[in-house]
Amino acid sequence: MSGQRRGAGSRAGAVRVCAAIVAGVALAGVAAESGSGAGRPPPAARVLRPVASVQEIMLSEVNPSATYLWNAVSTESTAQGVVDHRPTSEADWLAARHQALVLIEAGNLLLMEGRPIVARGGQVEDAEQPGILGPAEIRQAMDADRARLRRLVHALQDATLKALAAIERKDADALLDAGGDIDEACEACHKTYWYPGSAPAGIAGGPAK
Ligand code: HEC
Repeated sequence: MSGQRRGAGSRAGAVRVCAAIVAGVALAGVAAESGSGAGRPPPAARVLRPVASVQEIMLSEVNPSATYLWNAVSTESTAQGVVDHRPTSEADWLAARHQALVLIEAGNLLLMEGRPIVARGGQVEDAEQPGILGPAEIRQAMDADRARLRRLVHALQDATLKALAAIERKDADALLDAGGDIDEACEACHKTYWYPGSAPAGIAGGPAK
């Protein structure tokens, strides 16, 4: 019994300690948020925390979500003949919407400053081929002209917003059309930063044709 009371008491104590810590952290947060000068916004680096490399964002968010949208309206040759893929159910359209949102928001992640191009020790795909930039050169090229990076990312977001509007109207033909614009936006950025010196055949970043 007393053990239980002690247990309960110490739990309450623990809750109080936690509350104090939370309050302390909150105050520290407020202090950090307010920066050194009154009303001056804190440096972005203290608010946003880029962890994934650009390459990992390509592989985990950009490429899978774009591929989903390309495949959503497509034809596939199978042993049983040609199969037409189109979103039909509410669930199909909702899944397409979610993938479009992932792609649009991934654009915001690509605009964050200080994000590495590859994870430590990693290398850009096809780095051994002529005309392919290395991670340091890509980062430098992105930082040298932030307006250009913004334009390229916004082009991808605009194309995907077009896809999102098509999804909202449940218009498969318009979604297919927007898929072409998305492909062009991928390609424009890759040509600028990844393989400005060449256009190797079969490089990733486009719908299966
Ligand atoms: C803001 C510029 C930018 C946009 C827009 C962009 N990419 Fe990339 N992508 C890069 C850069 C830079 C690399 C090369 C470095 C790397 O591997 O991440 C790359 C690499 C890739 C890779 C290879 C990853 C690897 O190393 O295995 C794939 C796949 C890819 N992108 C897919 C896409 C697709 C699909 C789209 C469009 C839906 C897209 N990207 C749009 C900048 C961009």
